[in-house]
Amino acid sequence: MTIKIAIDGPAGAGKSTIAKKVARLLGFTYIDTGAMYRAITLKVLRENIPLSDKQKIIEIARKSDVFLEGEKVFLDGEDVSEEIRKPAVSEKVSIVSQIPEVRKILVNKQREIAKDKNVVMDGRDIGTVVFPEAQLKFFLTASLEERAKRRYEELRNKGTDVKYEKVLEEIKVRDDMDSKRKDSPLIIPENAIVIDTTHLTEEEVVKKVFEEIKKIVRGEI
Ligand code: DC
Repeated sequence: MTIKIAIDGPAGAGKSTIAKKVARLLGFTYIDTGAMYRAITLKVLRENIPLSDKQKIIEIARKSDVFLEGEKVFLDGEDVSEEIRKPAVSEKVSIVSQIPEVRKILVNKQREIAKDKNVVMDGRDIGTVVFPEAQLKFFLTASLEERAKRRYEELRNKGTDVKYEKVLEEIKVRDDMDSKRKDSPLIIPENAIVIDTTHLTEEEVVKKVFEEIKKIVRGEI
């Protein structure tokens, strides 16, 4: 038997930071599903495909080789880990990830990658669609302002020249699209443990996650 830990939640809630840390501490594989949607979006933008041309986008998703290695993301063999985090991609990724066929292709890939492994997987639909049978499901959230602040600081630290108001607006739009889309919207999965990280440090969130893991190990859940 393998163990699947699902971490879902809106943009900027701290999912990837926490998921990476938990995976490292447990010796599990970390799978960043958002990075896969971002990689496809990057290719769509590079090839100047209009976002209204769903067929072309689906074709790109079908033909592209998106590969995760640790915390790195490769698109057709090229390391795009940095480029997929740029605002141009963030602004468009929710449009690309609304297309059901794109989701189907990537969900299949995600299940394939995780098949025989113990994984910590972060995204929007992990506990609901990708691995509804996951032994542990977390839903991380935080206030919109706090999430925007974290994203803004992250981008500024990387040297990206952005305004806080723009980041806030982009997250708001993305929240809206991710939670209102027809296929696999962002919702709290059944049985998920909800953690509001607004006033918590990274260490405090990791501690809470481990308290839940211990309950499972002790057979309390
Ligand atoms: O986690 P992230 O911000 O890197 O995700 C980028 C976008 O990808 C997000 O706005 C919606 C989409 N996404 C999704 O639809 N399903 C997932 N499992 C992960 C991400």
